[in-house]
Amino acid sequence: MKAVILAGGAGTRLRPLTNNLPKPMVPILNRPFLEHMLDSLAAHNVTDVIITVSYLSDNIRNHFGDNGYANMNIHYVLEESPLGTAGAVKNVEKLLDDTFLVLNGDIFTNLDISKMLLFHNDADSKATLFLKEVSDPSQFGVVEIKGDGYIEKFIEKPNPGETKSNWINGGVYILEPDILQIAPENEFYMFERGLFPTLLETQIPMYGYRNNPYWIDLGTPSNYLRVNHDILNAVDESMIVENRDILNTEGYFAHPSAVIEGPVIVGRDCFIGAGSVIRGPTVIGSGVTIGEDNVISGSVLWDGVKLGHQVILTECILADDVTVDDKVRIGNLCMVASGMNVTADLQPGISLGPTG
Ligand code: GTP
Repeated sequence: MKAVILAGGAGTRLRPLTNNLPKPMVPILNRPFLEHMLDSLAAHNVTDVIITVSYLSDNIRNHFGDNGYANMNIHYVLEESPLGTAGAVKNVEKLLDDTFLVLNGDIFTNLDISKMLLFHNDADSKATLFLKEVSDPSQFGVVEIKGDGYIEKFIEKPNPGETKSNWINGGVYILEPDILQIAPENEFYMFERGLFPTLLETQIPMYGYRNNPYWIDLGTPSNYLRVNHDILNAVDESMIVENRDILNTEGYFAHPSAVIEGPVIVGRDCFIGAGSVIRGPTVIGSGVTIGEDNVISGSVLWDGVKLGHQVILTECILADDVTVDDKVRIGNLCMVASGMNVTADLQPGISLGPTG
């Protein structure tokens, strides 16, 4: 089966982390998210992956190259200007000749795609959407379905009481190529507000595949931290099995008086100075230098970060090559852009990048 990955968005909610890295490439436990996604597709008999790119497209192409990945062929299709989620798939229509998969390039899930495909075939569906149950659907695209999963209605971000359904669009679809005929060529077009409602009006059979695997949209700072924490904490046994190799720590040097507590992953060639405490769940990238008497908890540090002495990091995200001066405190959900030097405390929720 072929899979189309939507990887062209600008990832604005993760700025300034995405200033020079497209969102699908942000590291989850020290590996680009797209590698995790491709590994999981390879396990479900996907043979060809079409990555639709636009924002910072070279970064993705340069990383994976032109020789495929995990025995899958990779094709890159560039949009000069973003075409939207359904427009991006319409744009690769000529590469699609059979039932295919579409995935948002920012959803971390261990959904069983093979079972979803069986459901799609059994239902004789033209478009099957993976639906995830949430307690508060008010910020999501909600889908109303019949008992057998037949889709009756889409409601974007419903007001309280507007729907009884708690099933949201999980950003993974199995589609038949002929449904793309109704999509406009070379126009910005979305699944949620364009293609799916139009299919509904024309009574093309669409089904919701209801399932509750691990699922998270990593596109906000809190969710980005959470997915790293969840994998380290192994909230779901199948995640830890699939990701066991990445939980091994690589070679690093820690002073004997340094303390590492709880689930922590440390990349290659790191140095952890005397008296520093690292509390999990925390991710330390490669080539990171941590001075003396620092306290780091619940944070994600990308490669090449350099911390002075007596620095306190709490649930924050530091991108590649950030340096932090002595005694600086960086609080919850702060994000610091690649290459920045942090000279003063950052209060919770404050981001630091070249544009402020
Ligand atoms: P925000 O700017 O923070 O909303 O992020 P985003 O636009 O990058 O992602 P969003 O959650 O809105 O989109 C879901 C997925 O679709 C992401 O993986 C995006 O990369 C991808 N995507 C969004 N718009 C486009 C587009 O115009 N073209 C392509 N190829 N992919 C897109």
